[in-house]
Amino acid sequence: MDMTTTLIDHTFRKDVQRCFTEQTYAIPARWLYDRRGSELFEEITDLPEYYPTRTETNLLKANKAAFAKSIGPGRAIIEFGSGSSTKTPHLLNAIDPAAYVPIDISGDFLEHSASLLQKEFPELPILPVEADFMKRVELPEAVAALPKLGFFPGSTIGNMIARTSVDLLRFMRETLGEGAQLLIGFDRIKDPATLVAAYDDSAGVTAQFSLNLLHRINRELDGNIAVDQFRHVAVWSDIYARIEIYLEAQADVTLPIGGEQYHLAAGQKIHIENSHKYGIRDARLMLRAGGWTPVQEWSDEKDYFTLMLVEAHPYKHAP
Ligand code: AVI
Repeated sequence: MDMTTTLIDHTFRKDVQRCFTEQTYAIPARWLYDRRGSELFEEITDLPEYYPTRTETNLLKANKAAFAKSIGPGRAIIEFGSGSSTKTPHLLNAIDPAAYVPIDISGDFLEHSASLLQKEFPELPILPVEADFMKRVELPEAVAALPKLGFFPGSTIGNMIARTSVDLLRFMRETLGEGAQLLIGFDRIKDPATLVAAYDDSAGVTAQFSLNLLHRINRELDGNIAVDQFRHVAVWSDIYARIEIYLEAQADVTLPIGGEQYHLAAGQKIHIENSHKYGIRDARLMLRAGGWTPVQEWSDEKDYFTLMLVEAHPYKHAP
């Protein structure tokens, strides 16, 4: 076991312990994404009820000419949390960039996706950076002098609470510098039935994605949780404008984890994920709070999803 694995294991254990000992009944959503979780998330993106990936990809394909005009050629594209970089080729084709810098916390995944993309774009300098993008990231020297475009698709920002989102937007501004642009995806507020269906699909893939967290505890933290005693619950919270995802105990259960025994009463819910949705003005305000000036927006005809182009203008004194 290498140093990184030990560190992850330790933090995961602490986060899971806190859930039960401090009775927060919450586990950070980042732990959903082990290898199995990432595979299940890929499956989610193809589900008929899960509209965000399809809608955003169509927006990227349909607006190439507009991106070329508003962004232009010669920029370094910096993608935050690039993962499998599946949406990136559409953008690369549209704007003819000078370099591509995918940033991801998972080094293996990063190298693999970068080498696949390099085959498709043999002339493009691709410079992967293994880093946690929730902080300021040191970019490769080779892109220092280039104008930058940050790319943050998928409405991944929706998985953060508002103050974390604003922190992230500020870090992105620091990473990219004044004058940079950022193209960012926002999932829009829509009717709750459509939203709930997207997070509680009829094939039960999202349920498997959630329950995998308990399997992961069993696998990695020497747990023996009876996973079938839990069910996946997705609810719309209007006040927070978000889908909240929980694992609910179906009976009184004992959870043996790493030599400890925790108890949950029937009906107790563990909060494992939020997926915030935005009105256009909510998104604009949040972006401005993070130091970004809205420039242009692209939405589908149902207003399900919006791509926003924003710029890091010099700060001016408020009147
Ligand atoms: C990664 N993220 C944008 C997804 C979302 O829609 O919030 C995660 C997800 N969780 C369940 N389904 C999808």
